[in-house]
Amino acid sequence: MTYKKEYIASTHHPDEFWLKQARKIAWFTPPLKGCQKTDNGYFEWFKGGQLNTSYLALDHHVNNGRGDKTALIYDSPVTQTTQHFTYNELLTDVAQFAGGLSRLGVKKGDRVIIYMPMIPQAAIAMLACARLGAVHSVVFGGFAANELAVRIDDAKPVAIVTASCGIEGSKVLPYKPLVEEAIELAEHKPQACVLFQREQLTAELNENMDYDWNALVNASEPAPPVSVDATDPLYVLYTSGTTGKPKGVVRDNGGHAVALHYSMGAVYGIDEDDVFWAASDVGWVVGHSYIVYAPLIKGATTVLYEGKPIGTPDAGAFWRMIESHKINVLFAAPTAFRAIRKADPDAAFLSKYDTSSLRTLFMAGERLDPPTYYWASEKVGVPVIDHWWQTETGWPICSNPMGLEPMETKPGSSSVPTPGFNVKVLNSANTQQAIGEKGAIAIKLPLPPGCLTTIWQDHQRFVDGYLREFDGYYSTGDNGYVDEAGYVYIMGRTDDVINVAGHRLSTGEMEEVLAAHPAIAECSVIGVNDALKGQLPVGLVLLKDGVNIDEKALEQDLVQRVRDKIGPVACFKRAIVVNRLPKTRSGKILRKLLRQIAANESVAVPSTIDDPSSVKEIESIMREKGLVNETSTV
Ligand code: COA
Ligand code: AMP
Repeated sequence: MTYKKEYIASTHHPDEFWLKQARKIAWFTPPLKGCQKTDNGYFEWFKGGQLNTSYLALDHHVNNGRGDKTALIYDSPVTQTTQHFTYNELLTDVAQFAGGLSRLGVKKGDRVIIYMPMIPQAAIAMLACARLGAVHSVVFGGFAANELAVRIDDAKPVAIVTASCGIEGSKVLPYKPLVEEAIELAEHKPQACVLFQREQLTAELNENMDYDWNALVNASEPAPPVSVDATDPLYVLYTSGTTGKPKGVVRDNGGHAVALHYSMGAVYGIDEDDVFWAASDVGWVVGHSYIVYAPLIKGATTVLYEGKPIGTPDAGAFWRMIESHKINVLFAAPTAFRAIRKADPDAAFLSKYDTSSLRTLFMAGERLDPPTYYWASEKVGVPVIDHWWQTETGWPICSNPMGLEPMETKPGSSSVPTPGFNVKVLNSANTQQAIGEKGAIAIKLPLPPGCLTTIWQDHQRFVDGYLREFDGYYSTGDNGYVDEAGYVYIMGRTDDVINVAGHRLSTGEMEEVLAAHPAIAECSVIGVNDALKGQLPVGLVLLKDGVNIDEKALEQDLVQRVRDKIGPVACFKRAIVVNRLPKTRSGKILRKLLRQIAANESVAVPSTIDDPSSVKEIESIMREKGLVNETSTV
């Protein structure tokens, strides 16, 4: 079927379309219904269908005689290790670890926090939770103890699964002290902590609540897959919103499995004999969907990489991976390719490797900037596909549908809406923008299967944050436009979320950390353009009256505070003291205006501004400090 026919079928007859897709996965009880309205006014998919996501990802393939096929390849340049797991082996490990969790009292519906580096045990822990019907919540290793504590208090896990250390380039980062500090900070206290000891560092275990991974597994019986309803939660993944409190995006089991299975074929053109590598981290949505669940549900081979695009050991790392594992499709962030290009502009390393297995290179996490698109296309010599999605949707909203019908690629565009996503560009009057006119990007409800079903323990926040702005639509928080051929161009966020090296971060959260400093009266954190990481956060801070402080020392203090409270991943390195910030008459800082200045956009000064001269003043400071993206004139 061509893209157009498929897209029309998915949006005009969604139930028929998705029930047909649902029949392609192995249910214990197949669903009879597609999408239904819930009591709280939202939608749910495949209610009544019974399944188990770990069964789909593992047992199903073993039962079909594919147990000897490689399911997962672990490649770790930082430990000089490569390990292959067949479907049989991965199933054994997952069932065994699920048995271990079960011994600790973890059962269907319980939450388990997973705070792990990029090692196979991270994926095994996720699949083991899925096997028990328990809800996992993976926390990215680059977050500080405080962030972990916030998630512990929100998810209220029965257990935490961790490892003795992570390895970042040449640094060995102990995880146990972070976990201990987080448990200390949190009000909720998990019953147990399971720790995987790595060769590089042995952590001391506390005999009251800590369990050694291997000892636990050896003492346990393998656990069978538990049947869950399609609408039961599979995981909660916290993501940055506009406030300091991260949002727990809830994903169901049934819609998720159907959508990911569909996307492997339609979007990525992957079949079960292929090798798929998503160069991300299990702490992010890309890692959940495309390192762990989708390739395994499809029955393909997935790759888990513990390394960086450069420096482990060099800018040839990605090409070596493609050659070593005969990778067919690579999914990476543009920032990774900018890093490779910076280190090796002529791609000299590329000629040392045979990358002929590679068919397609997908990019996401941030807009694929045209210079990186052209460089990657020219050097790698395969189609380079920008595709747009979010933690909330769990799979691409827009892409070039390579498995259905490869289409023309337009630099700067993430191509066309994926079947199931009815994408519109709206203005504040809730009406559609004309072709080429910029506006807020929204998706007509219901969303297709696989997207978030609510915010953990806070449905009202879900409604207020996503459904209230445009009646009958989900607001994506991104803005952009659509061209005459229906290609979508994502231009940036409409809120206080920024994107640093493909990582989504909240400026509001950083502002809370800065504002807690005794010398600071007010502040604003904005994302400024960065040639490598896309954006970097910069704090504009106003001192309290009478405070006399060395600005460099203050900056260092603030940088350390953000590292300690949020984590090194925030990449917060600059704080600039200003005399005033533009505000409304009621005293609200005009953050949107600051964002517009930083982006070099035409500035819309609201009539409610307190003192219009403050705009020129802050603009000149921002230009002088190099905070304005001089290359962009939108
Ligand atoms: N555990 C602990 N710390 C981590 C971490 C982890 N999993 N990941 C990152 N960090 C730390 C780093 O060590 C670094 O700390 P430092 O300030 O002490 O040096 C900090 O967080 C920033 O890390 P990073 O953003 O990775 O910067 P970098 O300069 O080390 O590397 C890139 C730059 C571009 C190579 C790297 O950001 C990258 O590979 N990005 C791709 C990201 C990606 O795949 N995103 C996909 C999401 S879809
Ligand atoms: P995350 O939830 O971490 O996946 O981040 C989602 C946000 O990243 C989106 O709302 C966009 O702002 C941005 N994003 C992701 N992929 C793209 C893309 N291909 N083009 C433009 N922006 C993107």
